Amino acid sequence: MNIDRSATSFPIKNNFNFLAHCSISHLYSPAAAASNHVLERQVQAGRQSIFEFAGDANIGLKFKKGFGAMMKTSADNITMTTNTSEAISMIANGYPWQPGDQILSYTHEYPANHYPWVVQTQRHDVELVLLSDAAFPQTDHAKAAEVPESFARGWCFDQLISKVTDRTRVIAISHVQFTSGFAADMEKLGQFCTDKGIDLVVDAAQSLGCLPVYPETWNAAAVASAGWKWMLGPIGTGVMYTRPDFRDKIAITMSGADHMKQDTNYLDHSWAPHTTGQKFEYSTVSYAVLAGLATSVTELFGQTTMEAVRDHNFALQDLLVEHLDATRYQPVLHVPKHRSGILALIPLTQSDKQVCAALEKENIIVTPRDGYVRVAPHLCSTEDEVMQAVEALNRV
Ligand SMILES: Cc1ncc(COP(=O)(O)O)c(C=O)c1O
Repeated sequence: MNIDRSATSFPIKNNFNFLAHCSISHLYSPAAAASNHVLERQVQAGRQSIFEFAGDANIGLKFKKGFGAMMKTSADNITMTTNTSEAISMIANGYPWQPGDQILSYTHEYPANHYPWVVQTQRHDVELVLLSDAAFPQTDHAKAAEVPESFARGWCFDQLISKVTDRTRVIAISHVQFTSGFAADMEKLGQFCTDKGIDLVVDAAQSLGCLPVYPETWNAAAVASAGWKWMLGPIGTGVMYTRPDFRDKIAITMSGADHMKQDTNYLDHSWAPHTTGQKFEYSTVSYAVLAGLATSVTELFGQTTMEAVRDHNFALQDLLVEHLDATRYQPVLHVPKHRSGILALIPLTQSDKQVCAALEKENIIVTPRDGYVRVAPHLCSTEDEVMQAVEALNRV
């Protein structure tokens, strides 16, 4: 992967050794420049600035082509959103529920993929069924002891199968769990959902930008993500993929001018929503920040493949595990198909928060979550940065 990893491209390196890409990431500086440019043009030109972002400079087009390429799908299946929760809420609120329908999810999902489904149980006669924690398979790596039950933040397929009924309409699951880094086997899950006629809705906030996310390979109904973690985009951005036949059956629950085919002919009140991903872009979007995310996806991620990013990140994790003091940390070592960008460490001598606070004093940023110390290097991270972090982890 031929990425410039210097502080010129990633100025955060002047301040921190940043290994927290599963949290709020640093913003890719050309993305910040693109966002600032949109704002500055509004300062200088007001409504005239909008016309400058037409044709090839169209922000929406750049965004959708960029994510279409990254996710190996048509730009027509991509929607610009503000966050993951907005996307999943639009799907859940517009779903054609029938009394008795069931939604299957996992008990430790991030709120973005939990509450939108809870809302459905408040408004309709539907049930949210939750998978509980299950010990997950680990590698036979010498340092991989059994993960204690209290730390098993992942689910298993056998339990999933046992909870599916003929009333299960939706399986709503994260590709990667935000605590332990447990990645679902999406191809297996996608095949299962296809066979059973279940709609698979995926929260990919912890995988998009880090792992291959190919919704068509999984036959996913919808995939939603934030833009400010692994994508290195601005806060307040997100992206959604929807499969065309699934999109058709989702009712519109948020509406305004911008998803209607009559465009700026505002007094034509006919009901003519777009049938592409624009169906869900109900009104004025946050152009400035979305221009930033469009720049990250095309100019940063466009330089490489998602397989190369994944392999780079796994190699850095392996390096850290190789040098980690096993008397002080137990790494959670998922088997390859359940690995992700998050390397979770169970600290054995101090709490997760104590470890992260100690590293922060040395300007090394890793994040505590639910008992785990999460180490999350990314495409901009180097072996030297990982070695500095592991030296500090073994010492503090
Ligand atoms: C799995 C997962 N989903 C979603 C989000 C973010 O949700 P939203 O984009 O609604 O802020 C996070 C943030 O940590 C997350 O870990």
